[in-house]
Amino acid sequence: MHSLCLVLNLLPLALPALASAAQPQHVLHIPPTPPPHASRPLSPALASLSVDPAFWAEFWGNATHPNLFSMRLLRNIAQRTTAPPIIRPGGVTQDSSRFLASAGAPERTTDPATGAIYRTTYGPDFYRSFGNFPEGTRVTVPLNFGNDSVEVARAQAAGAVRWVEGWAERVWAFELGNEAGNYKATQRNLSTWGPAAYVAEWKNWTSTINAVLPPPLRTRWWAGSDGITPAAVTVALQTEDLLARGIDDQTPPIVREFSQHMYAYSACKPASAALATVPNIHNHTDITAFVGLLAPKVAAARGNGSDLVVGEFNSVSCSGKENVTDIFGQALWVIDTTLYAASLNVSRVHLHQGATLVSQSNSQINVPGANGTPGFSTYNLWYPVDSPLRGRRRANPSYVSQLFLAETVGKSGTSRLVELSPPEGVSPDLFAAYAVYDGGAPVRIAVINWQTFNSTMGEAGVRATSLGLDISGLVQKKKATLKRLTAPGSDEKNADYVRWAVLVLYL
Ligand SMILES: *[C@@H]1O[C@H](CO)[C@@H](O)[C@H](O)[C@H]1NC(C)=O
Ligand SMILES: *[C@@H]1O[C@H](CO)[C@@H](O)[C@H](O)[C@H]1NC(C)=O
Ligand SMILES: *[C@@H]1O[C@H](CO)[C@@H](O)[C@H](O)[C@H]1NC(C)=O
Ligand SMILES: *[C@@H]1O[C@H](CO)[C@@H](O)[C@H](O)[C@H]1NC(C)=O
Ligand SMILES: *[C@@H]1O[C@H](CO)[C@@H](O)[C@H](O)[C@H]1NC(C)=O
Ligand SMILES: *[C@@H]1O[C@H](CO)[C@@H](O)[C@H](O)[C@H]1NC(C)=O
Ligand SMILES: *[C@@H]1O[C@H](CO)[C@@H](O)[C@H](O)[C@H]1NC(C)=O
Ligand SMILES: *[C@@H]1O[C@H](CO)[C@@H](O)[C@H](O)[C@H]1NC(C)=O
Ligand SMILES: *[C@@H]1O[C@H](CO)[C@@H](O)[C@H](O)[C@H]1NC(C)=O
Repeated sequence: MHSLCLVLNLLPLALPALASAAQPQHVLHIPPTPPPHASRPLSPALASLSVDPAFWAEFWGNATHPNLFSMRLLRNIAQRTTAPPIIRPGGVTQDSSRFLASAGAPERTTDPATGAIYRTTYGPDFYRSFGNFPEGTRVTVPLNFGNDSVEVARAQAAGAVRWVEGWAERVWAFELGNEAGNYKATQRNLSTWGPAAYVAEWKNWTSTINAVLPPPLRTRWWAGSDGITPAAVTVALQTEDLLARGIDDQTPPIVREFSQHMYAYSACKPASAALATVPNIHNHTDITAFVGLLAPKVAAARGNGSDLVVGEFNSVSCSGKENVTDIFGQALWVIDTTLYAASLNVSRVHLHQGATLVSQSNSQINVPGANGTPGFSTYNLWYPVDSPLRGRRRANPSYVSQLFLAETVGKSGTSRLVELSPPEGVSPDLFAAYAVYDGGAPVRIAVINWQTFNSTMGEAGVRATSLGLDISGLVQKKKATLKRLTAPGSDEKNADYVRWAVLVLYL
């Protein structure tokens, strides 16, 4: 058992209180009809993915030999909703990638002295491998902006059109560059680089590249792709600033979606890594404050007839932190962060997957594997292949978050979400609840009890962190299911001990 999460499939009926009579019952108020601020219909691909291109072959295999383990994990998610996650091959290595017609699956070139990846090269096999995903999967096409050569980016876009089978359906968007606000002096002239220079160049390049794209693809651009962290290291390309500088003033508009990245914590330097602790991260008040930075960006994008997605996010940047991001508690963090973003009308969030890149910082706490093998990030949902650093390929406890989220969104295509206020007497820091509405009534509730108990605390600890909830105020007629996501403790690292199972059926 652990911090409980429940999804109630309310085909409405009477629900007794959800805990033993001995516990105090806290009344959770659930509006009987969707309140005015309820989200727009949730995307079936709300919980989407991002994978650094340098590690594409490890995650997904190649065109002729897909990674069947990864594909099965994707299918498990896809079965629970009506559209599989949208896959974004993207991240830092996108900005040193290139397409060569004679090359094969993505291959890293690493500096033997430092282990730094300075180039990722791929050929038609990369684009053909998009066809291995579950039926209906859409993929974004990463273009290199960092190299500052439009020919390199144009060759990648043209390669995608030539080699992605069924591109009209499969290519969701083109993405020009990753976190251009973080570019180094080798990539741009930093005395002039910023939102204005970005918008001018972005418009120039997209126009040059559109000239080689078929018309249906010319209006499928992502713009932005920079962090929301207001850190000093970034010139911060924010959706509002890009719009104000006319990034989408063409007819027809070419920005399909604005993308922003989101990491509240970081393992890039020892000082920042010291703050990336379980008590700091597992705090609903802090999660909502940080994710709330997206609200004005959603408003700006939607006011412009576009949408806002989180193209890349995770809990601790620079590949996560051992014992913090590879534990069961990370699953709850992914769920809370994703659902809160959805409650703000963010269209999708792409959870980032990859491996340590030594070029990101010279003092980060993570290391790559030996001899060019990947040092998979501990925030990954799964380790896709055996590796010297992480051992056998396996799912991490956080994987189950994707099943939970897919079931919360459901299959109707019309469900809408609201965040619920914590019951009286329950700490807003340690409680999160969301109601999903369909057909004008609540159909599911997702609850996270953030009171952490770990595997060393025993029965008394379990009791001390349990929460009695009374949701009998719901309109009730037929039948309900209580499903619970649990593990022996927040600190559990073995996915085999994570349970996502029906606990009670009320008939
Ligand atoms: C989300 O979008 C819906 C539909 O446009 C709108 O009614 C609602 O107020 C928005 N909610 C928030 C939190 O912005
Ligand atoms: C695809 O993967 C298989 C198995 O690892 C390998 O034999 C083959 O050479 C790969 N093909 C390409 C184009 O990389
Ligand atoms: C551009 O790519 C070439 C070939 O990989 C490389 O030599 C050069 O350093 C790159 N320049 C930048 C600014 O990334
Ligand atoms: C960068 O831009 C500034 C301002 O235009 C200019 O003075 C400087 O020479 C440029 N630096 C390089 C390396 O091109
Ligand atoms: C992009 O900028 C270059 C250099 O200023 C210019 O030569 C070219 O015509 C521009 N292309 C477009 C499509 O605006
Ligand atoms: C989007 O904003 C641009 C200015 O950046 C404006 O020219 C355009 O008309 C807006 N489009 C919509 C659909 O609001
Ligand atoms: C949660 O975060 C808030 C804001 O940073 C802080 O005031 C509060 O003490 C934290 N709660 C817990 C239980 O750590
Ligand atoms: C993670 O936890 C394990 C066992 O609880 C411990 O042996 C290991 O040193 C910890 N790793 C780090 C980086 O703290
Ligand atoms: C488990 O909880 C105890 C008591 O709060 C604490 O001392 C210990 O550090 C926790 N262990 C882990 C792995 O979180």
